[in-house]
Amino acid sequence: MALGPAHIASFMCLIPLLLLAPGCAARYTADWASLDARPLPQWYDDAKFGIFIHWGVFSVPGFGQFSEWFWWWWASGRQAEVDFMKKNYPPGFKYADFAPQFRAEFYNPDDWADIFKASGARYIVFTTKHHEGFTNWPSPVSWNWNSMDTGPHRDLVGELAVAVRKRSLRLGLYHSMFEFFNPLYLADRASGFKTQNFVALKTLPELLHLVMSYKPDLIWSDGDWEAPDTYWNSTQFLAWLYNDSPVKEGVIVNDRWGKGCYCKHGGYFNCADRFSPGQVPNHKWEKCQDLDAFQSWGYRRNMKLTDVMDLPSVIKDFVSVVAMGGNYLLNVGANSDGMIVPVFEERLRQIGVWLGINGEAIYASKTWRVQKDNTTVPVWYTAKNNTVYAILLSWPPKQSLQLPSPKTSTATKVTLLDFPNVPLKWAPMTQTAGLTVLMPPMPPSPANAWCLKLEGVA
Ligand SMILES: *[C@@H]1O[C@H](CO)[C@@H](O)[C@H](O)[C@H]1NC(C)=O
Ligand SMILES: *[C@@H]1O[C@H](CO)[C@@H](O)[C@H](O)[C@H]1NC(C)=O
Ligand SMILES: *[C@@H]1O[C@H](CO)[C@@H](O)[C@H](O)[C@H]1NC(C)=O
Repeated sequence: MALGPAHIASFMCLIPLLLLAPGCAARYTADWASLDARPLPQWYDDAKFGIFIHWGVFSVPGFGQFSEWFWWWWASGRQAEVDFMKKNYPPGFKYADFAPQFRAEFYNPDDWADIFKASGARYIVFTTKHHEGFTNWPSPVSWNWNSMDTGPHRDLVGELAVAVRKRSLRLGLYHSMFEFFNPLYLADRASGFKTQNFVALKTLPELLHLVMSYKPDLIWSDGDWEAPDTYWNSTQFLAWLYNDSPVKEGVIVNDRWGKGCYCKHGGYFNCADRFSPGQVPNHKWEKCQDLDAFQSWGYRRNMKLTDVMDLPSVIKDFVSVVAMGGNYLLNVGANSDGMIVPVFEERLRQIGVWLGINGEAIYASKTWRVQKDNTTVPVWYTAKNNTVYAILLSWPPKQSLQLPSPKTSTATKVTLLDFPNVPLKWAPMTQTAGLTVLMPPMPPSPANAWCLKLEGVA
């Protein structure tokens, strides 16, 4: 066989001095030291905002706190779920009997993707399989417990992948490693995780199938915490993902790859759900937050309007996360019909309206030397090149605002992003730092948040 250019290129990669030759990427080894050293593809830090969607068989009962755990709560005897089942379902009804009722009659992935696009999000993360084990795609190793064989009879993941990509949104796939009651998993656990039959026959084949079928930009791993990463073979999987998979260049992963991994290993860090650091972490991170605040990731049919975060609360949370260097992943639960209910849709569209004016301060921004300032209204800072953005979470009283931290110069220019062509009058606060800005009349903002652009400050 004759040597072609591809062979020569791969041979040259073996010579250390030529490692930087085009086409020679460093190879990662299946250990955390090597995998953790991989630089995060830039798209993720630039994106800042994503939408998380929880959907599965659990959406059928759609009940109770953390409804995506319904099967677990019911089986382990939590009163609310036990009573709910007794009252509404015949004796002998099993959790699996919910699956045929997962019909997704109104599921239109183009409608979903339109909403996500309008929200200003740059990526989505969709549950391909939650802890109940039901796969939202035709997994070849989830016989009769997948969305093609039963329930919707559709490839929910595949259809959404096409719709979001049409709108240039990045595709993230959530995947739970463990399954509450899978007999293979229970047997491995009973062995103290000495056997790996579940990993060999279920977890790894499904992760591979997801990557090869849908070429995700992001894998949001979960359900890892009972067993060490050596049980899951996480480092072997990630080495393959980074070296040889079809998404090796741009793919991003989180940090849930085995007991003790989170906040320590993987790609970016989620740490615990709704993580909120007190200072800028030295590693890229993401806060996931449910719009059905502190109640549920899965849809709850018994959700009340007062349970849902209002727009100012969402923007406040989002802005503080970005100012601290994080991404914000905001969750909605879809109902079993396949609808994103109008109250969620409205919130998402309102965020998009706010980002339409203020997105310059968010997308591709960096943290500044100060994150939060002490003044009459809460102020968070972001920065880009030589520009600093001061995001106000309330309108300042008396049309004047003091910002103690920025250092001005004669070149300093101040504008409100609502009125980009109207320079505002300002004066130094003290001889060393700070400025007082004369504010224009208050532009309406349903989010109760505005952004000052400060050019030529340090
Ligand atoms: C996990 O990785 C080890 C070491 O490479 C290998 O011996 C084992 O077969 C793998 N297990 C599975 C389930 O792939
Ligand atoms: C704001 O006040 C707090 C508490 O008084 C202080 O620790 C912090 O350094 C101040 N921040 C700035 C930017 O001055
Ligand atoms: C800001 O800096 C980035 C690189 O860090 C550059 O690509 C971009 O063009 C700059 N933008 C402006 C407005 O100078």
